[in-house]
Amino acid sequence: MNVNAERFLADLHELRSFGASGIGKGVVRRAYSDADIAARQWLAGRMAEAGLDVHFDPVGNLFGLGGERSVLVGSHSDSQPEGGWLDGALGVIAGLEIARAAKEAGGPPVSVVSFQDEEGRFGVTTGSDVWSGNLSLAQADSLTDDDGVSMAQARDKMADLVGEFLPHDRFSGFLEMHIEQGPSLDQSDDRIGVVSDIVGIRDMRISFSGRQNHAGTTPMHLRQDAFQCLSAFNTALNTRLAEVVTPSTVWTIGHVSLHPNASSVVPGKVTFSMQWRDRDVARLQKMGEIIQTLAREVVAERGLEATLDPVMGIEPVPMNADLQAALAASAEAAAPGQWRTMPSGALHDASNMATVMPVAMLFVPSIGGISHAFDEDTDETDLALGLQVLAGAVQALA
Ligand code: GLV
Ligand code: MN
Ligand code: MN
Repeated sequence: MNVNAERFLADLHELRSFGASGIGKGVVRRAYSDADIAARQWLAGRMAEAGLDVHFDPVGNLFGLGGERSVLVGSHSDSQPEGGWLDGALGVIAGLEIARAAKEAGGPPVSVVSFQDEEGRFGVTTGSDVWSGNLSLAQADSLTDDDGVSMAQARDKMADLVGEFLPHDRFSGFLEMHIEQGPSLDQSDDRIGVVSDIVGIRDMRISFSGRQNHAGTTPMHLRQDAFQCLSAFNTALNTRLAEVVTPSTVWTIGHVSLHPNASSVVPGKVTFSMQWRDRDVARLQKMGEIIQTLAREVVAERGLEATLDPVMGIEPVPMNADLQAALAASAEAAAPGQWRTMPSGALHDASNMATVMPVAMLFVPSIGGISHAFDEDTDETDLALGLQVLAGAVQALA
């Protein structure tokens, strides 16, 4: 099987044209947006041209099937609200090129997938979470995005494309190539990362409701100010979490919606996302207890009310030893002495797939460690090297 790096890079650039942001190589391709669905239809066309059988499942995960039973290679093609051109897209187009090259060579059978809503417009890696059975379709359908649109409403836009869920045993394993999205490889001489394990994540929505009032006439001591409450929560949270975290633990308040968000109004309500990640389940649990206890404390002290939505999450997972070994051997052959084994601090569809089949992952460097931003990028020689390493592993496993 001979993968074609030029064809792979050309397809990667063409995928970027769907939802191109106009700023650098960035893309805006939220799950189920017009740009996302158009990109999926383009991908389906490329898969068909390669001789793969195209299949969309009920949540919009797109498969290009290369045989009755095969290895599955891919990632996701939806983006963050301000996303880069490689996050997810790289793994999908690498899977397409390997499946296409395998068809041209007369085998082995290779299938490709683009999962839907990996970036969590609704849940957390929602498309692969539902297909793996960890999240029911009914639960997923009831999730809402930050504008109040439900997943059921959103996926209805793809209703004319979709069929049934595929059985997991069609696939012998899942391989995902991805940009690192952090600085480790870029700051070293290594060009490939073989992933040992993926961190776990917890994510929830919290609201503090107080009293909307006039910003000129309401004395400070009479206010039930939702922003002041969030500010106090965040400051106390950093202090309390310091007692339980390690240097690699992370937590983020990334989305805040303040109501009514006007300069002359004491804000009556704030709704915000609270996310935390770690490799240890017990620590994730402890952090969750601290967060929820503190949220109730800060509102009680200030006369507001807290609404804590259910905690969603994905568990930390190790990668399969045999698949890791195949990637490591291929990395050593293609980039002798210039690869390392490393954990993933970013979440991936591979986490969900690891609950239903053997899984492994490969990283290439991210320039400056930047991702989830328009200026995310990777040197094209590293993209091509990653493709070569992945193809070598697929060939060896077949
Ligand atoms: C996936 O994009 C993540 O948030 O790690
Ligand atoms: Mn990704
Ligand atoms: Mn991402």
